[in-house]
Amino acid sequence: MKKEISIGLLGLGVVGSGVIKIVEDHQEDLQHQLGCGVKVEKVLVRDMEKARKIAVDETLLTTNSADVLDNPNIDVIIEVMGGVDTAREYILTALKAKKHVVTANKDLIALHGPELEETARENGCDLFYEASVGGGIPLLRPLSDGLVSDRINQVMGIINGTTNYILTKMDKEGQSYEDALQKAQELGFAESDPTADVEGLDAARKMVILARLSFFTDVELDDVEVSGISTLALEDIEYGNKLNLTMKLIGFANRHDNKIEVSVQPTFLSKDHPLASVNDEFNAVYVSGEQVGETMFYGPGAGSLPTATAVMSDVVATIKNMLLGVNGKKFVKTRFEKQLAPAEERFGQFYLRLRVKDETGAFASISDLFNKLGISFERILQTPVDKGAAEIVVVTHKTSLANFQNAMEQLKDLHVIETVESSYRVEGDA
Ligand code: NAP
Ligand code: HSE
Repeated sequence: MKKEISIGLLGLGVVGSGVIKIVEDHQEDLQHQLGCGVKVEKVLVRDMEKARKIAVDETLLTTNSADVLDNPNIDVIIEVMGGVDTAREYILTALKAKKHVVTANKDLIALHGPELEETARENGCDLFYEASVGGGIPLLRPLSDGLVSDRINQVMGIINGTTNYILTKMDKEGQSYEDALQKAQELGFAESDPTADVEGLDAARKMVILARLSFFTDVELDDVEVSGISTLALEDIEYGNKLNLTMKLIGFANRHDNKIEVSVQPTFLSKDHPLASVNDEFNAVYVSGEQVGETMFYGPGAGSLPTATAVMSDVVATIKNMLLGVNGKKFVKTRFEKQLAPAEERFGQFYLRLRVKDETGAFASISDLFNKLGISFERILQTPVDKGAAEIVVVTHKTSLANFQNAMEQLKDLHVIETVESSYRVEGDA
């Protein structure tokens, strides 16, 4: 075994800078754990002139990918550039050159994970991506190692730091959506294009990774029902407060009778639900197993050093595998044919805000429709909004998604309804 393992870093932004800092600050600890040093050999960037958040020996920097990918001294490549096509090409090149790869790139793993895993296996290389979900929270390794003897049936949680930061600042400090988003970008939580965060796509990619690892099924991005927070109205957050509910962007993956459902959507949680008190950029994920029951993983879901910690945990795992000579041996193989649960077999409670004509019998005609469909109300709020109109907010008891969608369709035909303003899933006891 070499006295020093050399790393090639692809990217020196928020996460890459954190990796450099950890390698520098924790060199002694790494040496103690591994019996060898860890050295950053080369760093690929786009712009050599750019001011960096961390001081780096300029001779390490390059804009030529071959200086990293074809470098015979480099044993492990860390990909923290982001993006899909170039990152995929570089990682395939690295694996074919028998270099182990660690990546934080959920976009890439969600879209091309199976192809990259196969290439890693063929070349006897490790491909790890702990940082791709949950930032600094150890999550993927506990799922695939710690809970390996169990059968996981549900994964539910807050898995996007940016949106959780925005929702927390809007709810607790009355900040505008735009101000909170800008701050999340400044703090390095958001993706380079934050649309992926606020529209739920980043969380959907993470749910693909979690669902694959949990259910041993080839879940794809198209299987995930996705909605984000960009159109969320402050009124709903305020109504939620009156109903003792907190709005969070929740990733949900469920398996029942080998049928799965995976979604990412703004969801109202009862304020005493443990996820309701997960604030700012923090993430938390519940994993329910048949034997273990409920486990919860909590910690910083984004940011330079937390994410770099997860990246470095993969580097350490890779080097330990090198010491044991077992690289490329540990992969989760697809086992079950994918079956998506239809709307008739997906159940939940729902919040609904309606703008109605403020006239006698208006509420009765709405409740008649829901009675007819067998949907009962758990909570009801009625507020006059202006002359002749009122807002009605209801929270239903548990019903199937199909039944609720049917009710939404039929509501449009009721003459008392002016508009269906919003509807959200509700979790926990409302
Ligand atoms: P970032 O701050 O935008 O940094 C990206 C870095 O990659 C920059 O240094 C950039 O070079 C370099 N780069 C990008 N495209 C390149 C190309 N084609 N050729 C050469 N260099 C290129 O991004 P980040 O926040 O560190 O995120 C990196 C990855 O980690 C992404 O996949 C992201 O989803 C993931 N991630 C981020 C976080 C987080 O909290 N930020 C958490 C978990 C996972 P220049 O600096 O020269 O422009
Ligand atoms: N943009 C992501 C987030 C980074 O806000 O959660 C961590 O994956």
